[in-house]
Amino acid sequence: MAGMIPRQFIDDLLARADIVELIDSRVPLKKAGKNYQACCPFHTEKSPSFSVSQDKQFYHCFGCGEHGNAISFLMEFDRLEFPDAVEELASHYNMTVPREQINRTPAQQKQDQKAYIQKQDDYELMAQISRFYQQQLKVASDKDIAIDYLKGRGLSGEIVKRFGIGYISDAWDGMMKVFGRSNQINQQLVDLGMAIQSDKNRPYDRFRGRIQFPIRDKRGRVIGFGGRVLGDGTPKYLNSPETRIYHKGQELYGLFEAKQANKQLTRLVVVEGYMDVVALAQNGVDYAVASLGTATTSEQLQTLFRTVKEVICCYDGDRAGRDAAWRAMDNALPMIQDGYSLKFVFLPDGQDPDSMIREQGQAAFEKILDNATPLSTFLFEHLLAQIDMTSPEGKGAAIGAFKPYLAKLPESNLKDAIVTKLANQFGANNEMQLKKLHKNFANAEQNKAKAVRPKITPVRLAIALLLEHPHIVETLPDANILADLNMPGIPLLNQLLALCKQNPKVNSAQLLEHFRGQEAEKQLTKLMCMEHHVEPENAEGTFLDTIEKFLNVFIEQRTELLLEQSRSSKLSDDEKLELHELLSL
Ligand code: UTP
Ligand code: MN
Repeated sequence: MAGMIPRQFIDDLLARADIVELIDSRVPLKKAGKNYQACCPFHTEKSPSFSVSQDKQFYHCFGCGEHGNAISFLMEFDRLEFPDAVEELASHYNMTVPREQINRTPAQQKQDQKAYIQKQDDYELMAQISRFYQQQLKVASDKDIAIDYLKGRGLSGEIVKRFGIGYISDAWDGMMKVFGRSNQINQQLVDLGMAIQSDKNRPYDRFRGRIQFPIRDKRGRVIGFGGRVLGDGTPKYLNSPETRIYHKGQELYGLFEAKQANKQLTRLVVVEGYMDVVALAQNGVDYAVASLGTATTSEQLQTLFRTVKEVICCYDGDRAGRDAAWRAMDNALPMIQDGYSLKFVFLPDGQDPDSMIREQGQAAFEKILDNATPLSTFLFEHLLAQIDMTSPEGKGAAIGAFKPYLAKLPESNLKDAIVTKLANQFGANNEMQLKKLHKNFANAEQNKAKAVRPKITPVRLAIALLLEHPHIVETLPDANILADLNMPGIPLLNQLLALCKQNPKVNSAQLLEHFRGQEAEKQLTKLMCMEHHVEPENAEGTFLDTIEKFLNVFIEQRTELLLEQSRSSKLSDDEKLELHELLSL
Protein backbone atom coordinates (compact mmCIF):
# COMPACT_ATOMS: atom_id res chain seq x y z
CA MET A 1 0.00 0.00 0.00
CA ALA A 2 2.87 2.32 0.76
CA GLY A 3 4.01 1.84 -2.81
CA MET A 4 3.07 5.19 -4.15
CA ILE A 5 4.34 7.24 -1.25
CA PRO A 6 8.13 7.11 -1.40
CA ARG A 7 9.67 5.14 1.45
CA GLN A 8 12.13 7.97 1.97
CA PHE A 9 9.30 10.39 2.61
CA ILE A 10 7.75 8.13 5.21
CA ASP A 11 11.12 7.83 6.92
CA ASP A 12 11.51 11.61 6.90
CA LEU A 13 8.01 12.11 8.21
CA LEU A 14 8.54 9.70 11.07
CA ALA A 15 11.82 11.40 11.88
CA ARG A 16 10.02 14.74 12.10
CA ALA A 17 6.93 13.53 13.94
CA ASP A 18 6.69 13.40 17.69
CA ILE A 19 4.41 10.61 18.78
CA VAL A 20 4.06 11.97 22.30
CA GLU A 21 2.74 15.28 21.03
CA LEU A 22 0.50 13.56 18.50
CA ILE A 23 -1.10 11.17 20.97
CA ASP A 24 -1.26 13.77 23.73
CA SER A 25 -3.41 15.98 21.50
CA ARG A 26 -5.98 13.20 21.39
CA VAL A 27 -5.43 11.22 24.58
CA PRO A 28 -3.88 13.29 27.37
CA LEU A 29 -0.69 11.58 28.53
CA LYS A 30 1.05 11.57 31.88
CA LYS A 31 4.78 11.21 32.30
CA ALA A 32 5.67 7.93 33.97
CA GLY A 33 9.40 7.43 34.30
CA LYS A 34 11.03 7.49 30.91
CA ASN A 35 7.72 6.99 29.11
CA TYR A 36 4.26 8.50 29.01
CA GLN A 37 1.07 6.72 29.85
CA ALA A 38 -2.69 6.89 29.78
CA CYS A 39 -5.70 4.64 29.98
CA CYS A 40 -5.76 2.81 26.69
CA PRO A 41 -7.96 4.46 24.05
CA PHE A 42 -8.42 1.13 22.30
CA HIS A 43 -9.93 -0.86 25.12
CA THR A 44 -11.60 0.01 28.36
CA GLU A 45 -9.57 -0.04 31.54
CA LYS A 46 -9.34 1.57 34.92
CA SER A 47 -5.61 1.81 35.38
CA PRO A 48 -3.30 2.90 32.58
CA SER A 49 -1.49 0.21 30.62
CA PHE A 50 -1.11 2.27 27.47
CA SER A 51 2.48 3.44 27.19
CA VAL A 52 4.12 5.84 24.76
CA SER A 53 7.86 5.98 24.32
CA GLN A 54 9.47 9.14 23.05
CA ASP A 55 12.78 7.40 22.34
CA LYS A 56 11.20 4.62 20.35
CA GLN A 57 8.46 6.83 18.86
CA PHE A 58 6.19 3.96 19.58
CA TYR A 59 3.07 3.18 21.61
CA HIS A 60 2.03 -0.07 23.15
CA CYS A 61 -0.79 -1.24 25.37
CA PHE A 62 0.13 -3.99 27.79
CA GLY A 63 -3.54 -4.70 28.29
CA CYS A 64 -4.87 -5.23 24.78
CA GLY A 65 -1.66 -5.40 22.77
CA GLU A 66 -2.39 -2.47 20.44
CA HIS A 67 0.86 -0.90 19.31
CA GLY A 68 2.58 1.01 16.57
CA ASN A 69 4.14 4.26 15.47
CA ALA A 70 2.60 7.67 14.76
CA ILE A 71 1.09 6.49 11.47
CA SER A 72 -0.43 3.42 13.07
CA PHE A 73 -1.93 5.58 15.78
CA LEU A 74 -3.69 7.81 13.29
CA MET A 75 -4.92 4.79 11.36
CA GLU A 76 -6.37 3.27 14.51
CA PHE A 77 -7.53 6.30 16.39
CA ASP A 78 -8.75 8.52 13.58
CA ARG A 79 -9.85 5.50 11.54
CA LEU A 80 -7.81 6.50 8.53
CA GLU A 81 -6.45 4.40 5.72
CA PHE A 82 -2.67 4.24 5.48
CA PRO A 83 -2.27 6.97 2.81
CA ASP A 84 -4.72 9.24 4.64
CA ALA A 85 -2.87 8.74 7.91
CA VAL A 86 0.35 9.73 6.19
CA GLU A 87 -1.39 12.78 4.68
CA GLU A 88 -2.83 13.75 8.04
CA LEU A 89 0.49 13.45 9.84
CA ALA A 90 2.31 15.28 7.06
CA SER A 91 -0.18 18.17 7.06
CA HIS A 92 0.53 18.64 10.76
CA TYR A 93 4.15 19.36 9.90
CA ASN A 94 3.36 21.31 6.75
CA MET A 95 4.91 18.61 4.62
CA THR A 96 3.48 17.72 1.24
CA VAL A 97 3.25 14.04 0.48
CA PRO A 98 5.03 13.30 -2.79
CA ARG A 99 3.69 10.61 -5.09
CA GLU A 100 5.94 8.18 -6.80
CA GLN A 101 5.34 6.79 -10.28
CA ILE A 102 6.09 3.15 -9.87
CA ASN A 103 6.49 1.09 -13.01
CA ARG A 104 7.45 -2.31 -11.73
CA THR A 105 5.24 -3.29 -8.81
CA PRO A 106 3.11 -6.25 -7.84
CA ALA A 107 -0.44 -6.22 -9.16
CA GLN A 108 -1.75 -5.60 -5.68
CA GLN A 109 0.17 -2.36 -5.30
CA LYS A 110 -1.03 -1.19 -8.66
CA GLN A 111 -4.59 -1.94 -7.66
CA ASP A 112 -4.20 0.06 -4.46
CA GLN A 113 -2.67 2.93 -6.29
CA LYS A 114 -5.46 2.94 -8.82
CA ALA A 115 -8.08 2.92 -6.10
CA TYR A 116 -6.31 5.71 -4.29
CA ILE A 117 -6.06 7.89 -7.34
CA GLN A 118 -9.67 7.13 -8.17
CA LYS A 119 -10.75 8.30 -4.73
CA GLN A 120 -8.75 11.49 -4.96
CA ASP A 121 -10.50 12.13 -8.22
CA ASP A 122 -13.87 11.32 -6.64
CA TYR A 123 -13.31 13.85 -3.87
CA GLU A 124 -12.36 16.48 -6.38
CA LEU A 125 -15.46 15.85 -8.48
CA MET A 126 -17.75 15.93 -5.44
CA ALA A 127 -16.16 19.20 -4.34
CA GLN A 128 -16.82 20.68 -7.77
CA ILE A 129 -20.43 19.54 -7.74
CA SER A 130 -20.88 20.98 -4.27
CA ARG A 131 -19.55 24.33 -5.46
CA PHE A 132 -21.86 24.11 -8.44
CA TYR A 133 -24.91 23.56 -6.21
CA GLN A 134 -23.88 26.51 -4.05
CA GLN A 135 -23.43 28.62 -7.14
CA GLN A 136 -26.97 27.78 -8.21
CA LEU A 137 -28.30 29.74 -5.23
CA LYS A 138 -26.89 32.78 -7.02
CA VAL A 139 -27.50 32.01 -10.66
CA ALA A 140 -30.39 29.56 -11.12
CA SER A 141 -33.37 31.10 -12.88
CA ASP A 142 -35.62 30.02 -10.02
CA LYS A 143 -33.08 30.79 -7.30
CA ASP A 144 -35.58 33.02 -5.50
CA ILE A 145 -37.80 30.17 -4.40
CA ALA A 146 -34.76 28.41 -2.95
CA ILE A 147 -33.54 31.53 -1.18
CA ASP A 148 -37.02 32.24 0.14
CA TYR A 149 -37.25 28.69 1.40
CA LEU A 150 -33.95 28.96 3.30
CA LYS A 151 -34.90 32.36 4.68
CA GLY A 152 -38.27 30.98 5.67
CA ARG A 153 -36.47 28.38 7.71
CA GLY A 154 -34.57 31.09 9.50
CA LEU A 155 -31.18 30.55 7.95
CA SER A 156 -28.74 33.37 7.33
CA GLY A 157 -26.44 33.60 4.35
CA GLU A 158 -23.52 33.03 6.66
CA ILE A 159 -24.85 29.70 7.96
CA VAL A 160 -25.83 28.58 4.46
CA LYS A 161 -22.26 29.25 3.44
CA ARG A 162 -20.72 27.58 6.49
CA PHE A 163 -22.59 24.37 5.73
CA GLY A 164 -22.06 24.69 2.01
CA ILE A 165 -25.79 24.43 1.38
CA GLY A 166 -26.77 24.67 -2.26
CA TYR A 167 -29.64 24.22 -4.65
CA ILE A 168 -30.48 22.42 -7.84
CA SER A 169 -33.47 23.33 -9.99
CA ASP A 170 -35.98 20.73 -11.07
CA ALA A 171 -34.62 19.35 -14.34
CA TRP A 172 -33.39 15.95 -15.50
CA ASP A 173 -29.90 17.08 -16.26
CA GLY A 174 -29.11 20.28 -14.36
CA MET A 175 -25.92 18.77 -12.95
CA MET A 176 -25.22 16.31 -15.78
CA LYS A 177 -25.31 19.08 -18.35
CA VAL A 178 -22.31 20.63 -16.64
CA PHE A 179 -20.40 17.58 -15.46
CA GLY A 180 -21.36 14.70 -17.75
CA ARG A 181 -18.63 15.39 -20.27
CA SER A 182 -17.56 11.86 -21.13
CA ASN A 183 -18.67 8.29 -20.71
CA GLN A 184 -16.01 7.88 -18.10
CA ILE A 185 -17.23 10.80 -16.00
CA ASN A 186 -20.83 9.71 -16.47
CA GLN A 187 -19.90 6.35 -15.01
CA GLN A 188 -18.07 8.04 -12.16
CA LEU A 189 -21.14 10.18 -11.43
CA VAL A 190 -23.27 7.06 -11.32
CA ASP A 191 -20.72 5.35 -9.04
CA LEU A 192 -20.79 8.34 -6.72
CA GLY A 193 -24.57 8.27 -6.54
CA MET A 194 -24.94 11.64 -8.18
CA ALA A 195 -26.58 10.31 -11.34
CA ILE A 196 -28.85 7.41 -12.15
CA GLN A 197 -28.38 5.22 -15.19
CA SER A 198 -31.49 5.17 -17.31
CA ASP A 199 -32.26 2.20 -19.52
CA LYS A 200 -30.90 3.42 -22.77
CA ASN A 201 -30.05 7.09 -22.56
CA ARG A 202 -27.29 8.75 -20.68
CA PRO A 203 -27.57 9.01 -16.89
CA TYR A 204 -29.77 11.68 -15.32
CA ASP A 205 -29.50 13.73 -12.11
CA ARG A 206 -30.38 11.94 -8.89
CA PHE A 207 -31.07 15.22 -7.11
CA ARG A 208 -33.62 17.48 -8.79
CA GLY A 209 -35.45 20.49 -7.44
CA ARG A 210 -33.89 20.24 -4.01
CA ILE A 211 -31.96 22.15 -1.36
CA GLN A 212 -28.63 20.35 -1.26
CA PHE A 213 -26.84 19.62 2.03
CA PRO A 214 -23.29 18.42 1.40
CA ILE A 215 -22.15 15.63 3.71
CA ARG A 216 -18.50 16.09 4.61
CA ASP A 217 -16.13 13.62 6.16
CA LYS A 218 -13.83 14.27 9.11
CA ARG A 219 -11.35 15.97 6.87
CA GLY A 220 -13.93 18.22 5.28
CA ARG A 221 -14.20 16.41 1.95
CA VAL A 222 -17.65 16.24 0.38
CA ILE A 223 -18.63 12.59 0.17
CA GLY A 224 -22.37 12.73 -0.37
CA PHE A 225 -25.49 14.87 -0.28
CA GLY A 226 -28.87 15.06 1.35
CA GLY A 227 -31.44 16.89 -0.73
CA ARG A 228 -34.68 18.34 0.62
CA VAL A 229 -37.71 19.10 -1.49
CA LEU A 230 -38.89 22.68 -1.30
CA GLY A 231 -42.52 21.82 -0.85
CA ASP A 232 -44.44 18.75 0.21
CA GLY A 233 -43.09 16.33 -2.38
CA THR A 234 -41.80 12.89 -1.52
CA PRO A 235 -39.43 11.72 -0.44
CA LYS A 236 -38.88 14.74 1.79
CA TYR A 237 -35.18 13.98 1.89
CA LEU A 238 -33.23 12.14 -0.74
CA ASN A 239 -29.82 10.86 0.32
CA SER A 240 -26.72 9.69 -1.47
CA PRO A 241 -26.52 5.90 -1.57
CA GLU A 242 -23.50 4.05 -0.18
CA THR A 243 -20.58 4.57 -2.52
CA ARG A 244 -16.86 3.87 -2.51
CA ILE A 245 -16.32 7.14 -0.62
CA TYR A 246 -19.55 7.36 1.40
CA HIS A 247 -20.41 4.90 4.14
CA LYS A 248 -23.24 6.44 6.06
CA GLY A 249 -22.80 4.35 9.20
CA GLN A 250 -19.35 5.85 9.66
CA GLU A 251 -20.13 9.48 9.07
CA LEU A 252 -21.78 12.18 11.12
CA TYR A 253 -23.41 15.12 9.40
CA GLY A 254 -22.08 18.36 10.88
CA LEU A 255 -19.03 16.99 12.68
CA PHE A 256 -16.56 18.75 10.44
CA GLU A 257 -18.47 22.02 10.77
CA ALA A 258 -18.68 21.64 14.56
CA LYS A 259 -14.94 21.08 14.76
CA GLN A 260 -14.32 24.09 12.54
CA ALA A 261 -16.51 26.30 14.71
CA ASN A 262 -15.01 25.16 18.02
CA LYS A 263 -11.35 25.00 18.88
CA GLN A 264 -12.13 22.90 21.89
CA LEU A 265 -15.31 20.88 21.69
CA THR A 266 -16.55 19.68 25.06
CA ARG A 267 -19.85 18.13 24.15
CA LEU A 268 -21.74 17.05 21.08
CA VAL A 269 -25.46 16.73 20.57
CA VAL A 270 -26.77 14.01 18.30
CA VAL A 271 -29.96 14.94 16.50
CA GLU A 272 -31.99 13.31 13.77
CA GLY A 273 -32.02 15.70 10.86
CA TYR A 274 -29.86 17.85 8.63
CA MET A 275 -32.09 20.84 9.33
CA ASP A 276 -31.80 20.30 13.07
CA VAL A 277 -28.01 20.54 12.88
CA VAL A 278 -28.12 23.64 10.74
CA ALA A 279 -30.87 25.38 12.73
CA LEU A 280 -29.06 24.71 16.00
CA ALA A 281 -25.88 26.23 14.57
CA GLN A 282 -27.89 29.18 13.34
CA ASN A 283 -29.06 29.76 16.90
CA GLY A 284 -25.70 29.41 18.60
CA VAL A 285 -25.62 25.67 19.34
CA ASP A 286 -22.81 24.92 16.94
CA TYR A 287 -21.96 21.50 18.28
CA ALA A 288 -24.72 19.28 16.91
CA VAL A 289 -24.34 16.36 14.52
CA ALA A 290 -26.82 14.06 12.82
CA SER A 291 -26.40 10.35 12.39
CA LEU A 292 -27.24 9.73 8.81
CA GLY A 293 -29.56 6.82 9.17
CA THR A 294 -31.89 5.35 11.69
CA ALA A 295 -29.80 4.26 14.66
CA THR A 296 -26.51 5.73 15.79
CA THR A 297 -23.90 3.09 15.05
CA SER A 298 -20.99 1.94 17.19
CA GLU A 299 -18.59 3.50 14.74
CA GLN A 300 -20.34 6.85 14.97
CA LEU A 301 -20.36 6.69 18.75
CA GLN A 302 -16.70 5.83 18.77
CA THR A 303 -15.98 8.87 16.64
CA LEU A 304 -18.09 10.99 19.00
CA PHE A 305 -16.34 9.76 22.12
CA ARG A 306 -12.97 10.25 20.53
CA THR A 307 -13.90 13.86 19.97
CA VAL A 308 -15.63 14.73 23.24
CA LYS A 309 -16.39 13.19 26.62
CA GLU A 310 -20.03 14.17 26.75
CA VAL A 311 -22.54 13.05 24.15
CA ILE A 312 -26.20 14.02 24.35
CA CYS A 313 -28.65 12.20 22.15
CA CYS A 314 -31.62 14.34 21.39
CA TYR A 315 -34.56 12.42 20.00
CA ASP A 316 -38.31 12.56 19.62
CA GLY A 317 -40.19 11.59 22.73
CA ASP A 318 -42.23 9.05 20.82
CA ARG A 319 -41.75 5.31 20.61
CA ALA A 320 -39.36 5.52 17.65
CA GLY A 321 -37.22 8.14 19.37
CA ARG A 322 -36.95 6.06 22.53
CA ASP A 323 -36.05 2.97 20.54
CA ALA A 324 -33.38 4.92 18.70
CA ALA A 325 -32.01 6.16 22.03
CA TRP A 326 -31.98 2.66 23.45
CA ARG A 327 -30.06 1.30 20.48
CA ALA A 328 -27.57 4.14 20.69
CA MET A 329 -27.11 3.45 24.38
CA ASP A 330 -26.58 -0.23 23.76
CA ASN A 331 -23.91 0.56 21.17
CA ALA A 332 -22.24 3.13 23.40
CA LEU A 333 -22.00 1.10 26.62
CA PRO A 334 -18.50 -0.31 26.01
CA MET A 335 -17.19 3.23 25.54
CA ILE A 336 -18.50 4.78 28.74
CA GLN A 337 -15.40 4.84 30.90
CA ASP A 338 -14.94 7.09 33.88
CA GLY A 339 -15.06 10.68 32.74
CA TYR A 340 -17.31 9.93 29.76
CA SER A 341 -21.05 10.38 29.69
CA LEU A 342 -23.97 9.65 27.44
CA LYS A 343 -27.20 11.50 28.12
CA PHE A 344 -30.63 11.72 26.58
CA VAL A 345 -33.12 14.41 25.77
CA PHE A 346 -36.60 13.45 24.66
CA LEU A 347 -38.48 16.27 23.02
CA PRO A 348 -42.18 16.95 23.46
CA ASP A 349 -44.54 15.51 20.89
CA GLY A 350 -44.42 17.19 17.51
CA GLN A 351 -41.22 19.12 18.27
CA ASP A 352 -37.72 18.72 16.92
CA PRO A 353 -34.52 20.59 17.83
CA ASP A 354 -35.10 22.96 14.92
CA SER A 355 -38.56 24.00 16.07
CA MET A 356 -37.56 24.03 19.75
CA ILE A 357 -34.63 26.36 19.38
CA ARG A 358 -36.45 28.68 17.03
CA GLU A 359 -39.30 28.93 19.51
CA GLN A 360 -37.33 29.12 22.73
CA GLY A 361 -33.86 30.32 21.81
CA GLN A 362 -30.35 29.19 22.61
CA ALA A 363 -30.37 29.62 26.38
CA ALA A 364 -33.56 27.64 26.90
CA PHE A 365 -32.37 24.90 24.58
CA GLU A 366 -29.01 24.63 26.30
CA LYS A 367 -30.78 24.43 29.63
CA ILE A 368 -32.64 21.40 28.31
CA LEU A 369 -29.30 19.91 27.31
CA ASP A 370 -27.83 20.64 30.74
CA ASN A 371 -30.70 18.75 32.31
CA ALA A 372 -30.49 15.76 30.01
CA THR A 373 -31.34 12.34 31.43
CA PRO A 374 -28.20 10.44 32.43
CA LEU A 375 -27.61 6.98 31.08
CA SER A 376 -28.18 5.33 34.46
CA THR A 377 -31.60 6.91 34.87
CA PHE A 378 -32.58 5.89 31.36
CA LEU A 379 -31.38 2.37 32.06
CA PHE A 380 -33.37 2.02 35.28
CA GLU A 381 -36.53 3.57 33.86
CA HIS A 382 -36.42 1.34 30.85
CA LEU A 383 -35.38 -1.94 32.46
CA LEU A 384 -37.47 -1.76 35.60
CA ALA A 385 -40.58 -0.39 33.94
CA GLN A 386 -42.31 -3.76 33.76
CA ILE A 387 -40.72 -5.37 36.79
CA ASP A 388 -42.22 -5.68 40.25
CA MET A 389 -39.23 -5.29 42.51
CA THR A 390 -41.09 -6.42 45.61
CA SER A 391 -41.40 -10.04 44.55
CA PRO A 392 -38.53 -12.57 44.42
CA GLU A 393 -39.44 -13.28 40.79
CA GLY A 394 -39.13 -9.61 40.01
CA LYS A 395 -35.73 -9.40 41.62
CA GLY A 396 -34.50 -12.37 39.62
CA ALA A 397 -35.88 -10.83 36.46
CA ALA A 398 -34.11 -7.54 37.27
CA ILE A 399 -30.74 -9.24 37.49
CA GLY A 400 -31.41 -10.94 34.17
CA ALA A 401 -32.49 -7.67 32.59
CA PHE A 402 -29.46 -5.69 33.76
CA LYS A 403 -26.87 -8.35 33.16
CA PRO A 404 -26.33 -8.01 29.38
CA TYR A 405 -26.04 -4.24 29.63
CA LEU A 406 -23.82 -4.06 32.68
CA ALA A 407 -21.55 -6.71 31.22
CA LYS A 408 -20.83 -4.31 28.36
CA LEU A 409 -20.11 -1.38 30.63
CA PRO A 410 -16.44 -1.04 31.57
CA GLU A 411 -15.54 -1.32 35.23
CA SER A 412 -16.05 2.25 36.40
CA ASN A 413 -17.50 4.46 39.08
CA LEU A 414 -20.69 4.65 37.03
CA LYS A 415 -21.00 0.90 36.97
CA ASP A 416 -20.34 0.65 40.69
CA ALA A 417 -23.03 3.25 41.28
CA ILE A 418 -25.54 1.42 39.12
CA VAL A 419 -24.89 -1.89 40.85
CA THR A 420 -25.16 -0.24 44.24
CA LYS A 421 -28.41 1.45 43.29
CA LEU A 422 -29.78 -1.85 42.05
CA ALA A 423 -28.67 -3.53 45.26
CA ASN A 424 -30.49 -0.88 47.27
CA GLN A 425 -33.67 -1.61 45.40
CA PHE A 426 -33.18 -5.23 46.35
CA GLY A 427 -32.71 -4.31 49.96
CA ALA A 428 -29.38 -6.07 49.55
CA ASN A 429 -26.82 -3.60 50.70
CA ASN A 430 -24.44 -5.63 52.80
CA GLU A 431 -20.92 -6.02 51.55
CA MET A 432 -21.15 -9.66 50.55
CA GLN A 433 -24.33 -9.39 48.56
CA LEU A 434 -22.92 -6.37 46.79
CA LYS A 435 -19.77 -8.23 45.88
CA LYS A 436 -21.83 -11.07 44.52
CA LEU A 437 -23.83 -8.68 42.38
CA HIS A 438 -20.69 -7.03 41.10
CA LYS A 439 -19.24 -10.38 40.15
CA ASN A 440 -22.42 -11.24 38.34
CA PHE A 441 -22.03 -8.15 36.18
CA ALA A 442 -18.30 -8.33 35.54
CA ASN A 443 -17.09 -7.09 32.20
CA ALA A 444 -15.90 -10.13 30.30
CA GLU A 445 -13.72 -8.24 27.81
CA GLN A 446 -11.84 -6.46 30.49
CA ASN A 447 -11.01 -9.50 32.49
CA LYS A 448 -9.18 -11.16 29.65
CA ALA A 449 -5.67 -12.18 30.56
CA LYS A 450 -2.96 -9.61 30.02
CA ALA A 451 -0.76 -10.05 27.00
CA VAL A 452 1.90 -12.69 27.52
CA ARG A 453 5.41 -11.37 27.60
CA PRO A 454 8.09 -13.01 25.48
CA LYS A 455 10.89 -14.94 27.15
CA ILE A 456 14.22 -13.20 26.78
CA THR A 457 16.60 -15.22 24.59
CA PRO A 458 19.91 -13.87 23.24
CA VAL A 459 18.50 -13.36 19.74
CA ARG A 460 15.46 -11.57 21.09
CA LEU A 461 17.63 -9.43 23.29
CA ALA A 462 19.91 -8.49 20.39
CA ILE A 463 16.92 -7.55 18.24
CA ALA A 464 15.28 -5.60 21.05
CA LEU A 465 18.46 -3.63 21.73
CA LEU A 466 18.99 -2.90 18.07
CA LEU A 467 15.38 -1.77 17.62
CA GLU A 468 15.72 0.52 20.54
CA HIS A 469 19.19 1.87 19.77
CA PRO A 470 19.69 1.41 16.02
CA HIS A 471 22.99 3.31 16.12
CA ILE A 472 24.72 0.45 17.96
CA VAL A 473 25.14 -1.19 14.59
CA GLU A 474 28.13 1.14 14.24
CA THR A 475 30.01 -0.84 16.86
CA LEU A 476 30.10 -3.91 14.61
CA PRO A 477 33.03 -4.19 12.22
CA ASP A 478 30.72 -5.62 9.60
CA ALA A 479 26.90 -5.75 9.39
CA ASN A 480 27.19 -9.12 7.64
CA ILE A 481 29.03 -10.65 10.52
CA LEU A 482 26.27 -13.20 11.23
CA ALA A 483 25.40 -13.94 7.62
CA ASP A 484 26.26 -17.64 7.82
CA LEU A 485 24.91 -18.40 11.25
CA ASN A 486 22.13 -20.92 11.24
CA MET A 487 19.84 -20.17 14.16
CA PRO A 488 16.20 -19.14 14.58
CA GLY A 489 15.74 -15.39 14.57
CA ILE A 490 19.12 -14.65 13.02
CA PRO A 491 17.78 -13.89 9.51
CA LEU A 492 15.54 -11.22 11.01
CA LEU A 493 18.43 -9.81 13.04
CA ASN A 494 20.51 -9.73 9.86
CA GLN A 495 17.77 -7.90 8.02
CA LEU A 496 17.67 -5.29 10.79
CA LEU A 497 21.45 -4.98 10.86
CA ALA A 498 21.44 -4.27 7.14
CA LEU A 499 18.66 -1.67 7.47
CA CYS A 500 20.44 0.09 10.32
CA LYS A 501 23.69 0.08 8.42
CA GLN A 502 22.03 1.56 5.32
CA ASN A 503 20.24 4.29 7.28
CA PRO A 504 22.65 5.58 9.90
CA LYS A 505 20.09 7.90 11.54
CA VAL A 506 17.14 5.54 11.50
CA ASN A 507 14.92 5.49 14.62
CA SER A 508 12.81 2.70 16.06
CA ALA A 509 9.55 3.86 14.54
CA GLN A 510 11.10 4.08 11.09
CA LEU A 511 12.63 0.63 11.42
CA LEU A 512 9.30 -0.81 12.33
CA GLU A 513 7.60 0.98 9.45
CA HIS A 514 9.70 -1.10 7.05
CA PHE A 515 7.92 -4.20 8.27
CA ARG A 516 4.31 -2.92 8.09
CA GLY A 517 2.07 -5.72 6.94
CA GLN A 518 4.88 -8.27 6.95
CA GLU A 519 5.13 -11.50 8.89
CA ALA A 520 7.91 -10.14 11.09
CA GLU A 521 5.96 -7.07 12.19
CA LYS A 522 4.25 -8.84 15.05
CA GLN A 523 7.45 -10.34 16.42
CA LEU A 524 9.23 -7.03 16.20
CA THR A 525 6.55 -5.09 18.01
CA LYS A 526 6.54 -7.70 20.78
CA LEU A 527 10.28 -7.34 21.11
CA MET A 528 10.03 -3.59 21.03
CA CYS A 529 7.98 -3.79 24.21
CA MET A 530 9.97 -6.53 25.90
CA GLU A 531 11.20 -5.50 29.32
CA HIS A 532 14.86 -6.46 29.23
CA HIS A 533 16.11 -4.10 31.95
CA VAL A 534 19.23 -3.14 30.01
CA GLU A 535 19.91 0.53 30.72
CA PRO A 536 20.65 2.69 27.66
CA GLU A 537 24.25 3.23 28.73
CA ASN A 538 24.78 -0.53 28.81
CA ALA A 539 22.98 -1.24 25.56
CA GLU A 540 26.05 -1.22 23.38
CA GLY A 541 28.12 -3.47 25.64
CA THR A 542 25.31 -5.95 26.12
CA PHE A 543 24.65 -5.99 22.39
CA LEU A 544 28.30 -6.74 21.60
CA ASP A 545 28.41 -9.50 24.24
CA THR A 546 25.38 -11.08 22.63
CA ILE A 547 26.87 -10.89 19.16
CA GLU A 548 30.00 -12.52 20.53
CA LYS A 549 27.90 -15.35 21.87
CA PHE A 550 26.46 -15.85 18.40
CA LEU A 551 29.92 -15.91 16.90
CA ASN A 552 30.90 -18.62 19.36
CA VAL A 553 27.87 -20.60 18.35
CA PHE A 554 28.86 -20.11 14.75
CA ILE A 555 32.36 -21.38 15.46
CA GLU A 556 30.95 -24.47 17.13
CA GLN A 557 28.50 -25.08 14.29
CA ARG A 558 31.18 -24.71 11.67
CA THR A 559 33.73 -26.85 13.52
CA GLU A 560 31.24 -29.62 13.98
CA LEU A 561 30.24 -29.48 10.34
CA LEU A 562 33.83 -29.74 9.15
CA LEU A 563 34.64 -32.54 11.58
CA GLU A 564 31.62 -34.44 10.40
CA GLN A 565 32.62 -33.96 6.79
CA SER A 566 36.18 -35.07 7.51
CA ARG A 567 34.84 -38.37 8.84
CA SER A 568 32.72 -39.17 5.82
CA SER A 569 34.71 -37.60 3.01
CA LYS A 570 37.89 -35.76 2.29
CA LEU A 571 38.18 -32.06 3.14
CA SER A 572 39.66 -29.62 0.65
CA ASP A 573 42.92 -27.93 1.59
CA ASP A 574 41.09 -24.71 2.42
CA GLU A 575 38.67 -26.54 4.62
CA LYS A 576 41.48 -28.34 6.38
CA LEU A 577 43.13 -25.04 7.12
CA GLU A 578 39.86 -23.58 8.34
CA LEU A 579 39.25 -26.51 10.66
CA HIS A 580 42.73 -26.21 12.02
CA GLU A 581 42.18 -22.55 12.78
CA LEU A 582 38.81 -23.19 14.32
CA LEU A 583 40.14 -25.91 16.60
CA SER A 584 42.93 -23.71 17.80
CA LEU A 585 40.58 -20.85 18.80
P1 UTP B 1 -37.65 14.31 9.64
O1 UTP B 1 -38.77 13.75 8.84
O2 UTP B 1 -37.76 14.35 11.11
O3 UTP B 1 -37.44 15.72 9.05
O4 UTP B 1 -36.34 13.56 9.21
P2 UTP B 1 -36.76 17.00 9.63
O5 UTP B 1 -35.35 16.78 9.95
O6 UTP B 1 -37.60 17.59 10.67
O7 UTP B 1 -36.78 17.85 8.33
P3 UTP B 1 -37.54 19.18 8.04
O8 UTP B 1 -37.42 20.00 9.26
O9 UTP B 1 -38.94 18.81 7.71
O10 UTP B 1 -36.82 19.73 6.87
C1 UTP B 1 -35.17 13.51 9.96
C2 UTP B 1 -34.07 12.98 9.11
O11 UTP B 1 -34.43 11.71 8.58
C3 UTP B 1 -33.96 11.57 7.28
C4 UTP B 1 -33.12 12.79 7.00
O12 UTP B 1 -31.79 12.54 7.38
C5 UTP B 1 -33.74 13.80 7.90
O13 UTP B 1 -32.89 14.88 8.17
N1 UTP B 1 -35.03 11.46 6.30
C6 UTP B 1 -36.27 11.94 6.53
C7 UTP B 1 -34.76 10.90 5.08
O14 UTP B 1 -33.64 10.45 4.83
N2 UTP B 1 -35.73 10.84 4.13
C8 UTP B 1 -36.96 11.33 4.34
O15 UTP B 1 -37.79 11.27 3.43
C9 UTP B 1 -37.24 11.88 5.59
MN1 MN C 1 -37.78 19.52 11.24
